[in-house]
Amino acid sequence: MPTGPARPPIAFIGSLSADEEQAWLDALRRAMPQERLLPAAAIADNHEVELALVANPDPAVVRRFDRLKWMQSLWAGVERLVAEPAFDELPLVRMVDPELARTMAEAVLAWTLYLHRDMPAYLAQQRAAQWLQLPYVPPSRRRVGLLGLGVLGVAAARRLGDAGFPVLGWSRTPKRLGDLGSVTTFSGSEGLMAMVSRTDILVCLLPLTDQTRHLVDEALLQAMPAHACLINFGRGPVVNLPDLVAALSARRLKHAVLDVFDEEPLPAASPLWRHPHLTLLPHISADTDPASASLIVARNVRRWRESGQIPQPVVDRQRGY
Ligand SMILES: NC(=O)c1ccc[n+]([C@@H]2O[C@H](COP(=O)([O-])OP(=O)(O)OC[C@H]3O[C@@H](n4cnc5c(N)ncnc54)[C@H](OP(=O)(O)O)[C@@H]3O)[C@@H](O)[C@H]2O)c1
Repeated sequence: MPTGPARPPIAFIGSLSADEEQAWLDALRRAMPQERLLPAAAIADNHEVELALVANPDPAVVRRFDRLKWMQSLWAGVERLVAEPAFDELPLVRMVDPELARTMAEAVLAWTLYLHRDMPAYLAQQRAAQWLQLPYVPPSRRRVGLLGLGVLGVAAARRLGDAGFPVLGWSRTPKRLGDLGSVTTFSGSEGLMAMVSRTDILVCLLPLTDQTRHLVDEALLQAMPAHACLINFGRGPVVNLPDLVAALSARRLKHAVLDVFDEEPLPAASPLWRHPHLTLLPHISADTDPASASLIVARNVRRWRESGQIPQPVVDRQRGY
């Protein structure tokens, strides 16, 4: 069989441990054996590389590849690359993986049930050897509000609706009900306050942008019903932490579950670890699965090779996500 000129390599650029990087390289090479995929440091000629697969990369390393045509992010969140003006003209394709959406929807349901069934209170009671039955509230009387109705928000809305919770959802642009079934939808700043004032458990699935930074602040928390709860699975800086801690300490807010933080890992000295009304998770609500994500990447690369078209969804730099 005639062999054409070797394809230029695809660069893998990530800030991962050696084991994590190897697992990704193995999965990606299995998914697209015809491609030459190399870690950035192993590429002899950076100028021949047209595509980089990136996982929270150091922007300085990406800059060394000055002939890139596009980048494929292996993560759903892309705020670090969006913040780099040097990449303004370079299409950045976001990871959209149904398996990631399923995992996140599962996490949203799990931690919603944790709050709904008063597990933090029962844990505190157990530690105090206290036998006390709290009143049961059926899911039909526990309203769950979602900040963000994107790929992850819609998957979570479905799962919560199936579990019997009335679901409300807020997004930047208005959503039609059709695809979202029974979800009550809101948009814009007036829609935000209208939604949170009817929300018992607020779940944040927003990207971090200039507009969403510190969106969950004192005014928003004040607008929620007394003893409401918060789950943040989006990005840490979307929540104003001093405002959240003040609301929890004053018992206006009952409990919060945080999976994402301004600084990760959260330093051991942080007082958040010891707050009695906080449950902290080490950014585990929905990890990208290398096996399923590699198949998505391989499909995108194949389509680009065949058509020259950059795959979707390309991040909109103006919107920031
Ligand atoms: N903790 C974890 O393990 C983990 C894992 C994966 C992802 N994440 C985070 O989850 C985020 C969401 O992922 P996704 O795939 O669902 O993103 P997506 O499909 O882009 O959806 C983003 C949603 O947020 C809404 N939104 C953005 N800016 C807004 C604003 N200023 N006001 C109101 N709504 C706004 C969008 O509104 P429109 O619909 O109007 O555009 C959209 O509904 C990611 O960016 C990432 O930060 C976390």
